[in-house]
Amino acid sequence: MDFTADQLLQYNGADPSKPIYVAIKGRVFDVTTGKSFYGPGGSYVMFAGKDASRALAKMSKNDEDISCSLHGLTEKEIGVLDDWEKKFEAKYPVVGRVVSGVVLLSSNGKNFMHDDLESDLRGCLIIDKDIVNVKDEEDEPNLLQQDSELS
Ligand code: HEM
Repeated sequence: MDFTADQLLQYNGADPSKPIYVAIKGRVFDVTTGKSFYGPGGSYVMFAGKDASRALAKMSKNDEDISCSLHGLTEKEIGVLDDWEKKFEAKYPVVGRVVSGVVLLSSNGKNFMHDDLESDLRGCLIIDKDIVNVKDEEDEPNLLQQDSELS
């Protein structure tokens, strides 16, 4: 199932009749069984209904880090994020993807953001490295062109 960032917010645990979702790198996990972490009063409630990639990478609960943006993360932080992703994969089912916003291209741990688009950041669309096979920053593709290939 596809979620916009706004739709994902509906699954932040505030409504007890709905599941709780947290996204990592645009993949939405159903973390309802982790309600004690992500539900009301939980230590990680700020991640619920969000793509928490940046916060997880930086081991941060700060508001400004609760974002799908991987922009400027260090290799080490990307490694931390990958470990979280593995942990979530082992523990929680994937229920969909976040599709709103166009910001991020990720390939082989490298990430890119077009500076002009940075100020428009709302959600992140991560283009699969199988679609955009970028090796390093010199090969940064044209965002708009790649974007149109998705539809
Ligand atoms: C003093 C600092 C911290 C302590 C003592 C602590 C401790 C813990 C403990 C005991 C768990 C439960 C582990 C389990 O049962 O599997 C946990 C889970 C978790 N921690 Fe922390 N934590 C700390 C800081 C942070 C920070 C800064 C983050 C920010 C990313 C974070 C993110 C998480 C997440 C996302 C989980 C839940 C994983 C899941 O869904 O299973 N923790 N933490």
